[in-house]
Amino acid sequence: MGLKNMYGLRIIGTGRALPSRVLTNDDMTQYVETSDEWITSRTGIRQRYFCGENENTTTLAIEAAKKALEKAGIDKGEISCVLVATSSGEYAMPSTACMVHKALELDENITVMDVGAACAGFLYAVETARALMIANGGRYALVIGAEQMSHVLDMADRNTCVLFGDGAGAAVLMLEEDAEYVSVTGTRGDMAIMVGGPRREQPMAMEGQNVFRFAVSTIPMCVEKLLEKGGVTLEDVDWVVCHQANQRILDASVRRLGVPAEKFYKNLDRYANTSAASIPLALDEMMESGKLVSGQRIIMCGFGGGLTWAGVMMRA
Ligand code: ACO
Repeated sequence: MGLKNMYGLRIIGTGRALPSRVLTNDDMTQYVETSDEWITSRTGIRQRYFCGENENTTTLAIEAAKKALEKAGIDKGEISCVLVATSSGEYAMPSTACMVHKALELDENITVMDVGAACAGFLYAVETARALMIANGGRYALVIGAEQMSHVLDMADRNTCVLFGDGAGAAVLMLEEDAEYVSVTGTRGDMAIMVGGPRREQPMAMEGQNVFRFAVSTIPMCVEKLLEKGGVTLEDVDWVVCHQANQRILDASVRRLGVPAEKFYKNLDRYANTSAASIPLALDEMMESGKLVSGQRIIMCGFGGGLTWAGVMMRA
């Protein structure tokens, strides 16, 4: 298989939203016995954003979506589906996607739903949006990753509460004939080593070291599968944008793949792990700063609870 797909995707607009509260590592010592030194050296995280009053997964998703739509410069009537990747929505129903649909006053005759694949959720949603557009004849999709991780954390568990943050990223994607697009998705349902409910009543718990091992083998595997499917090498790729979980996971992946570290985008020092939001949040930051320019080839790779993993290679 080559890189040209009969129907690929292009990113035509991105947006991001962050809540108002910033918590440094020192701030986390009010909840658990920890230190800036422990968190920084084990994870690379220096701060995270947590939702304040009147902020949640929905408000973040709506803000990021509005910005992405504005940058895309298309009529919102042209959006054929809205997918929100999240594990921390306010309700099972209505879905977060339905609340975005309401806030943006979108057309009735479109597909609107949440996608649950934890930190791989954004890429699962991208893949689903593409399939929906091919099946139903749509041209533009609004795909969002939004999380209020602070709502699903046990703030007394130092093994998890220091690792995550809140935020949202959104992308307007255009279906284009003969555009480059290669994807892979995978699931290890037998590895339920990260578990948690949508609310604090069943907070997240995780086998940290096993998740670490899974991540450092999955990123290189995912990247290599994409390269093989596309018939290109990492030298032909401008950026690798991985789910931002831990600096040491990214460093180990860089070493295993033997690529220059600069090719891997990193921002987890400022946001911590924002689960499904981390990849679109990074895309928007990269676009805004001019690091990622239209036409560049990127690989995106996500991995998370489930366990799930997914990768996409395409042009920005
Ligand atoms: N502050 C201080 N000490 C801590 C903290 C903390 N926040 N958390 C754990 N410790 C202690 C432990 O209690 C343990 O103490 P003990 O030896 O007295 O029992 C000690 O630190 C070492 O714990 P380890 O688990 O061995 O620490 P490790 O070096 O493995 O790092 C970490 C832990 C950072 C969680 C690592 O395993 C990791 O990054 N795993 C991947 C987690 C991850 O990224 N998950 C999400 C990815 S997938 C997704 O995003 C959905």
